[in-house]
Amino acid sequence: MLLSSLLLLLLLVSASQATHFLGTMMTYYPQETFADGSVSVILRYKLNFATCSYLDTWQCSGNCGAQTQTLNLSVVEEVSGEWCQREGAITHLLHNNTGFQTVFAGGNWIDSIQNRIVSWRAVTAVEMRNRSDLGKPNTSPQTTILPALRIPSNCAKNIDLLAFDPDGDEVRCRYGNTLASECNPCTPPSVLSVSSTCSLSFSPTNSSTELPYAVQLVIEDFPKQSIILTQTNGSQEVKTTNDAISKIPLQFVLKVGPPVPSCAEGAYLPRFLPPTPENRAQLYSPAGQAVVINISAEATQSNITGLLFSGPNNAVKTSLGSGSFSLTWTPSASEDGQSHPICFVVQANYLNTLLYSDLRCVIVTAGNSPTTPTTPNVIVSNQTILQNTAFTAPTTTTTTPILTNQTTMQPSVAPTTTTPNIIVSNQTIPQSVAVTAPTTTTTTTPSPTTLASTKANVTTSAPGPQYIIALNMMISTTLSMEDNSDYILALIKTKLIEKGLPSTISLRLLSSGQVVVTTASP
Ligand SMILES: *[C@@H]1O[C@H](CO)[C@@H](O)[C@H](O)[C@H]1NC(C)=O
Ligand SMILES: *[C@@H]1O[C@H](CO)[C@@H](O)[C@H](O)[C@H]1NC(C)=O
Ligand SMILES: *[C@@H]1O[C@H](CO)[C@@H](O)[C@H](O)[C@H]1NC(C)=O
Ligand SMILES: *[C@@H]1O[C@H](CO)[C@@H](O)[C@H](O)[C@H]1NC(C)=O
Ligand SMILES: *[C@@H]1O[C@H](CO)[C@@H](O)[C@H](O)[C@H]1NC(C)=O
Repeated sequence: MLLSSLLLLLLLVSASQATHFLGTMMTYYPQETFADGSVSVILRYKLNFATCSYLDTWQCSGNCGAQTQTLNLSVVEEVSGEWCQREGAITHLLHNNTGFQTVFAGGNWIDSIQNRIVSWRAVTAVEMRNRSDLGKPNTSPQTTILPALRIPSNCAKNIDLLAFDPDGDEVRCRYGNTLASECNPCTPPSVLSVSSTCSLSFSPTNSSTELPYAVQLVIEDFPKQSIILTQTNGSQEVKTTNDAISKIPLQFVLKVGPPVPSCAEGAYLPRFLPPTPENRAQLYSPAGQAVVINISAEATQSNITGLLFSGPNNAVKTSLGSGSFSLTWTPSASEDGQSHPICFVVQANYLNTLLYSDLRCVIVTAGNSPTTPTTPNVIVSNQTILQNTAFTAPTTTTTTPILTNQTTMQPSVAPTTTTPNIIVSNQTIPQSVAVTAPTTTTTTTPSPTTLASTKANVTTSAPGPQYIIALNMMISTTLSMEDNSDYILALIKTKLIEKGLPSTISLRLLSSGQVVVTTASP
């Protein structure tokens, strides 16, 4: 009797310990090259388990040299009862610059994984030979991810992962390959497809319960033109634009949850507001100087309950209330020149169902911005706003933004990415004036960073106590209207309010490209 109850207890313990993995991530930076040809490399990784108590180690094979240092695992973020993400780092000192592989393998993933992954396996291929184009060894792509992302089953969504390469290489994402032993096995989730540009596209399902999927990605860097890799002993190898230089794993859980009444951002699902940096923005902060990332979100039909992030373990999260948060991180001197990823979501609660905003990621580079004055992402020029201060009746302002230079943000191009802002130049905002005739402003070159300028034609309707005015403004932006319309609208709204319009205005984008501004009657 005593024996059988003991046995039962042991089985229960091992069963609960058996299912606890929620993915991992690893990146590397070469550190030093010594006169004798030896090199050092730092591997940074995240381990995601159900609680912060589980331990496991990366196994190295090939030219692993001496493992000079293993930093303790430090907690990045913990959601009690759901997951714990910890960060670790390993430094290897290699006698020569031959690369190596390191593998993280074990069992098991959390229960009920829909694509039936049980064991985990993740592989990093470290390339350390001297690159002919850089005169130094390769750095891997830099990325990170939360242990779990949530998507309501009825919402088609794209998840744009962070895939930044400090060397300026082309980064491509793909699912792991079982035959290459990149996972065990690599069966992708049926509901998710991956593009080589690291965007995951979710197809809605009819599920009403929470279903977890294991997402097992491999990220590689490809040279933009052929390069030669040179070994310490003189051996050389050519890498063409079709040859991956290094590869890293990115593994996490996608939790497909119950449907929501509306998939519109800002209703049930939180929507980011300014001054939240745009996705894949690159920020700079010299070593020893804190970078503060202000994050703001809204959801009208659910309660915002927090910010969850994945990034350096010593980043500090602060909740400022009303959907506002900040993340503060200070790069250390040893990280000078390095780029560190930070990804985050805002979480909301709708009748006890957890809902996440889109994933948003930034890259923080320790050092000064390499460019001379940074180019703002949105420039509004040559606009004239004439308004009646009373605003006692509903009014409508129609603006026609002309979007030029529309390109999707290139994550690996350092000089142009920055915290977005709007610059408005040449504005005249007379208060309480009676405009009786159409007005035209002349064109001037508004600022050195403006990419183009245009004539602003401002016309008014018939004079009266309250009137409507048309505002023609030109915007040039590196954001895409297709992907970032909410964000652009929010930026325009903020700027219009700052310039004197009431905070009750709301903006709508018409299919014609016009922006309609309305104010509610008081
Ligand atoms: C790497 O190559 C560059 C030139 O391509 C050379 O200046 C540099 O010394 C090399 N570094 C090592 C460690 O061999
Ligand atoms: C969900 O159910 C509806 C109606 O039952 C059906 O028309 C639709 O095809 C289903 N969608 C999926 C993705 O299974
Ligand atoms: C350099 O070392 C590699 C193995 O590390 C070997 O395959 C290669 O033949 C060597 N090349 C020369 C020129 O010695
Ligand atoms: C972040 O918010 C703080 C406090 O509100 C403010 O002082 C700071 O200028 C903001 N920083 C940015 C980059 O928006
Ligand atoms: C939001 O929180 C309030 C107060 O806790 C609660 O009464 C309300 O039901 C919550 N709303 C939703 C949609 O969960």
